[in-house]
This record gives sequence, structure tokens and C-alpha cells, in this order.
Amino acid sequence: MSTMPAHYTIPDTPRAVRYHATGKPGEVLKYETLPDDAREPAAGEALVLMEMVVVHPSDLGMIGGTYGRLRPLPAVAGREGVGRVARLGAGVTTLKPGDRVRMPEDSGAWREAIVARADDLMPVPADIPAEQIAMAFINPPTAWLLLHEFVNLQPGDWVIQNASNSAVGECVIQMARTLGLRTANLVRSPEKHGANLRALGADLVVADDDKALKTVLAQMGGAAPRLALNSIGGMSAITLTRALGKNGQLVTFGGMTGDAIRFPTREFIFKNVALRGFWMDRWARSAPPEILRAVFEAVYACLRDGTLKMAVDSVHPLAGYAGALARAGAYGRNGKVLLRGPAATA
Ligand SMILES: NC(=O)c1ccc[n+]([C@@H]2O[C@H](COP(=O)([O-])OP(=O)(O)OC[C@H]3O[C@@H](n4cnc5c(N)ncnc54)[C@H](OP(=O)(O)O)[C@@H]3O)[C@@H](O)[C@H]2O)c1
Repeated sequence: MSTMPAHYTIPDTPRAVRYHATGKPGEVLKYETLPDDAREPAAGEALVLMEMVVVHPSDLGMIGGTYGRLRPLPAVAGREGVGRVARLGAGVTTLKPGDRVRMPEDSGAWREAIVARADDLMPVPADIPAEQIAMAFINPPTAWLLLHEFVNLQPGDWVIQNASNSAVGECVIQMARTLGLRTANLVRSPEKHGANLRALGADLVVADDDKALKTVLAQMGGAAPRLALNSIGGMSAITLTRALGKNGQLVTFGGMTGDAIRFPTREFIFKNVALRGFWMDRWARSAPPEILRAVFEAVYACLRDGTLKMAVDSVHPLAGYAGALARAGAYGRNGKVLLRGPAATA
């Protein structure tokens, strides 16, 4: 067995945020002790201490029972984050104590520790700050794939999106800027988010209201987007569809309002607009491993060279998960809410 780096303390009573039934997070989440999570790793296994994990809308969908893929109950909550290898069982040669790995997604990430098969752990770069790398596996690859998988975009092309101040939206803006694309960005509060989004590279920031279509078309000066990215639904999706040019594609990857998308008939008939869907989860499970790795590497490269920076609203101890969830649901938040664990340095 390899020993852990001196500065990590393995919890005697490792805790996790767990639910035994789906429902409202405030009612079903419990902070429980799972002694097995910090047991001595057997041959081929590694003990990982959580460093930083993320609170996502999809976590709440899983806890609430509405997400596209649910876990057997009881389940530890959370999908994304990173940890550090603290101890190794016999025979593990692919990892060493102190290595950073992705927290295993299917087992649930909101936990202090986990023992997993070393071969199942995905090593991730240690030279990127924990707060950024913890968020590298869902939203930035989604933004990257949205910009690469649907339309063969060329420098100068316009992309339009709603919820542009979301984490995905900010990744889209920054990646689009690097690719030489132009973005038209709808938000609920342009006065609050406009300056920040422009600093990230947004070309236009417009209020997502009943005047949005007219405003955005006027400001694009006759150009028409080839790609529209929808994570809201309802009227906002109709605005995006109407803004598209001929043969444009509307890709829906989220439904923050829960409202159904209605097809604006004219655009479907006269402009041959296509309505598509995207789910990173499904894509990642069907993509060849080398392609998945290449997408992650592209994201790491953007994080390293500073062309991508994701906003952090606040970092909470795992035990403070209830306050973190309240913050994650607060209107006007700017950036992701994170939870830190025993391997976090501060
Ligand atoms: N399909 C996939 O593979 C995939 C992958 C990643 C993310 N997603 C989805 O993408 C969406 C964004 O995720 P994220 O992590 O980037 O979110 P986030 O950072 O938490 O931001 C949420 C965004 O949604 C907006 N919003 C929330 N409630 C709204 C409402 N009722 N009406 C209009 N806007 C509303 C917020 O606007 P305010 O700031 O104005 O409140 C904010 O812009 C989520 O639906 C998520 O599940 C999907």
C-alpha cells in the first residue's frame, strides 16, 4: 500500500450528501456517514479524497427525479468534481498518491472520500486551479460540442443563444471568440450581465423579452445566425428560431423554464430551420474514448492558456451543502457554487 501525502487527513467518519428518495433537495438530502468510503483500498483500488465538486441544475434534476438518467437509491448526489489520490492498494501502477482524478460520476461526487477501482479513475491535470478543473467535465465540453457538432461554422459566422450568463453560455462566448465566431446573447438582465459578457467576448447582449428579435436583428446588421443554442424553452426558444437564417439549426440542451418549445411554423417551412437536441451524457457514453479525451484536452488547453475562465460564485464546505444549494438557486448569482472537501488546500 502506498501512503498518502502528509497534508491530507483521511476522515475517520467520511460523510456524503445522500438521498433515499427523490424529491425536493431540502426534504430528501441527508448528510450521512459512509464508513466504507475511507476504508483501506484493496488490491487494484485507490482511496480518493474529494477536493472540489460543483452544484449543477442537473444535480437538482437527479435529486428531484426529473433528469434523463437516475441513480439507484440510496444515492450520493452530485456529478462533477475532482479529488486527490490518498492511498493505493497493492498492484496499482497507473496512479500515485497526490494525483488528481475526476470524482467518479456515477457513484456521486458530493462525498468526502471514495474507494474506487484505480482503472476506472480518470487522471486530470494538477496544474490547473482546483476551482476551474472541477468544472471542466460537463459545461465546457458541452459548449465545445455545441459549437462543433451541428453546423460547420466559419470565422465571422453568428451564433445566437439564450441564458447567455449561464456557465455554458459563458463558455460558448469565450470559445466562440477563440474560433473567430460572433455571438448574439440573450439574458434576463442585460444591465447586470452586459459588461461582463462583453469582456468575455460577446458581440451583442440583448434583453430576452418580447422586443429581443427586433433588437437583435437590427444589431446584427443583416447577418443571420446559422446556429441557435437554447437552454430555456418557451418564448425565448421561439425568438432564437425566428432569428436563424436559412437552413439554420436550433439546438436545445436545457429547459430552465420547463415550458414546451413551440415551432414557429414559417421558419420551419420557408427557412428549413431544423430543431435538434443535445445531451452531453449520451454523447460521452457513445463517443470513442479517444474523441472524448480529445474534447477534454481541448478544454484543458483553453483553461491553461486563459482563453476560458469560468466564474465562481462561492465555495462552501461539504457540510454546508444546504446553504450552497440555496445560493445555487438564487436569482442574480454570477458563477457556479462549489463544495470543497478534505483534499482542498484552502
Ligand atoms: N444537455 C446537456 O448535455 C447539458 C450540459 C450542461 C448543461 N445543460 C443545461 O444547460 C442549462 C444551463 O446550465 P448551467 O450549468 O450553465 O446553468 P447555470 O450556470 O446554473 O445558469 C442557469 C441559467 O439559467 C437561467 N435561468 C434560470 N431559471 C430561468 C428561468 N426560469 N427563465 C429564464 N432563465 C432562467 C439563469 O438566468 P439568471 O441568471 O437570469 O437567473 C442562468 O442564465 C441547464 O438547463 C443545464 O441542465 C445541459
